[in-house]
Amino acid sequence: MQIYKVGGAVRDRLLGKPVTDIDWVVVGATTEEMLAKGFRPVGADFPVFLHPKSGEEYALARTERKSGRGYGGFTFHASPEVTLEEDLIRRDLTINAMAEDDQQNLTDPYHGQQDLEARVLRHVSPAFAEDPLRVLRVARFAARYAGLGFTVAPETLELMRHLSESGELEALTAERSWKEIARALMEDQPQVFIEVLRECGALKVLMPEVDALFGVPQPEAHHPEIDTGVHTLSVLEQAALHKQPLTVRWACLLHDLGKGLTPKDEWPRHIAHEHKGLKLIKAVNERFKAPKDCQELALLVGEYHTHGHRALELKPSTLQELLQSFDVYRRPQRFEEFIAACEMDARGRKGLEQRSYPQADYLRGAATAARSVAVQPLLEKGFKGPDLGEAIKRERLKALKAYKEQA
Ligand code: CTP
Repeated sequence: MQIYKVGGAVRDRLLGKPVTDIDWVVVGATTEEMLAKGFRPVGADFPVFLHPKSGEEYALARTERKSGRGYGGFTFHASPEVTLEEDLIRRDLTINAMAEDDQQNLTDPYHGQQDLEARVLRHVSPAFAEDPLRVLRVARFAARYAGLGFTVAPETLELMRHLSESGELEALTAERSWKEIARALMEDQPQVFIEVLRECGALKVLMPEVDALFGVPQPEAHHPEIDTGVHTLSVLEQAALHKQPLTVRWACLLHDLGKGLTPKDEWPRHIAHEHKGLKLIKAVNERFKAPKDCQELALLVGEYHTHGHRALELKPSTLQELLQSFDVYRRPQRFEEFIAACEMDARGRKGLEQRSYPQADYLRGAATAARSVAVQPLLEKGFKGPDLGEAIKRERLKALKAYKEQA
């Protein structure tokens, strides 16, 4: 049997990037031979094994034939006769379809190296269409390598458009899609992920609520970029520049969905968009089964981001309600993430990227003031049960009034 390094490990070494995961392909072996060497099989009829020591993935060279829709709709044909070239041709992109032996000799039948140099993300063959998840993968790679100058080849974009229009994307499971979305949002230029999805028509299928924001105007005084979709991309870009976590990036992407529902005759104003957007945010959250912390933050940011911007004008009682809505006394981190999302929203506007955001420290100070109310003295005064709750609220309100006066 011959063993080759394949996929991302080869690509990233040639790009001079750090290699984390190594995938291997094994040519000329049978399942029985792999088991005899101590490899552990992954899944039942999937010809992938884990190395007994390193735990790295070793896949038998295979050809793939589509037999149904979506994931699990594949049948795999792996046999010792399948050649390296036959295995590579069924992979997604030419830059992912190179193999390397233990002497670092490159097998590159589909000109991946040429495309690496030309900075092109190009599909290897029509077999690309066998897995619709690849539409998201290509957009994710575009987000990752945009900084290096990579773009999607026009013919690949065309194929992605075809897949998006064919209804194939609907067959993807929430879990597979979310994994790609989450990874893409954590790339250096997550806005490119959304742009590429939009360009090939996949955004309209996956997140029509986000797609609908393009072409919707906002008041120029606050939004020099005017377009709500463009604004959303800029907010995401800022979130990445400021190294925000996934929760914040997800909330940034969804914060203005309500603006897509505004009747045209109300444009460019978006009255109560915060509230109107909640059902859309909920729908997107559920569609992809986003993790709970992402779901929660997106809903809270959707509902309260304009409170964040108006923080300095809020009455103490409104500030208190805001802090309460975030359960800031038990979940201080989530409030920090809210502040971060608001700041990204404020900066994700044309020409305003460097603006200061005094609301952030003001909100932090308010949370500290409210949190500094000590419970012990109230207990000593004999408060308990619901009375204690009321007494704490009164003291917090007092603390917030004092905070607002001295701020
Ligand atoms: N692959 C594919 N189609 C998919 C998933 C994977 O063709 N839907 C192939 C590609 O050749 C890819 C390899 O399997 O390079 C390994 O896949 P994976 O580990 O998911 O991705 P990497 O390319 O290693 O990229 P990353 O750096 O994102 O892990």
